Amino acid sequence: MNLSPLIVALDFDNRQKIKNLVEDLSKYVDIFKVGHLLYLKYGTEILDFLKEKRKKVFLDLKLHDIPNTVRLAVKAAKEREIFMLTLHALGGSEMIKEAKKEADDLPKLIAVTILTSLSERDIKSVGIKEKIEDLVKKLAKMAINSGAYGVVCSPQEAKAIRDILGSDKIIITPGVRLDENAQDQKRVATPKQAFESGADFIVVGRPIYQAPDPVGKVLQILKCIE
Ligand code: C5P
Repeated sequence: MNLSPLIVALDFDNRQKIKNLVEDLSKYVDIFKVGHLLYLKYGTEILDFLKEKRKKVFLDLKLHDIPNTVRLAVKAAKEREIFMLTLHALGGSEMIKEAKKEADDLPKLIAVTILTSLSERDIKSVGIKEKIEDLVKKLAKMAINSGAYGVVCSPQEAKAIRDILGSDKIIITPGVRLDENAQDQKRVATPKQAFESGADFIVVGRPIYQAPDPVGKVLQILKCIE
């Protein structure tokens, strides 16, 4: 499968502009990320639109629930031909194994380790004493051993994770910035650094959809990683 390594997150609330953006970027982008906002507001319509445009959907619902509930959600995602579906590794091994029962080829289960918006201080404040990098490595290994197809992590952790996962599992990194403001992202890197660290795909949202020229921005990102 030869897919563009750039996944574009459609995290804004204007259905016509979203459709226009998908059309404009269609030549360069194969996978679009649909998150909570878009899914809750225009779920069926936007999934049908992306299918019609022959685009793959990275449905980022970050499932985290009891195993049976997650398995049923995965079943529904399979029926909708979702390409990639995220779940929180923190949901545990049993949850991921149960989810995998409904995921054959599709949807590809992608485990989110620790959100890139969280810092060491943030995780301490919720009672986790471990260092982010150690925790991310542990979660990634557990998720893959439980049946996940790949993991989402910060580009800053991708290298350590690649060493653990080997070459056949995929790593997706958000928190990617060229020279833009990092906004709420705390563990960021450039596209080049992300791929050099072992990412297979990067997810970029605001730097593209908030750019005055999104196509130009996509070309700029793709050029950095050729
Ligand atoms: O706008 P920005 O480029 O920061 O968007 C990054 C996208 O990746 C967002 O849609 C966010 O939900 C997602 N994401 C993330 N960190 C994770 C997992 C997903 O930023 N660990």
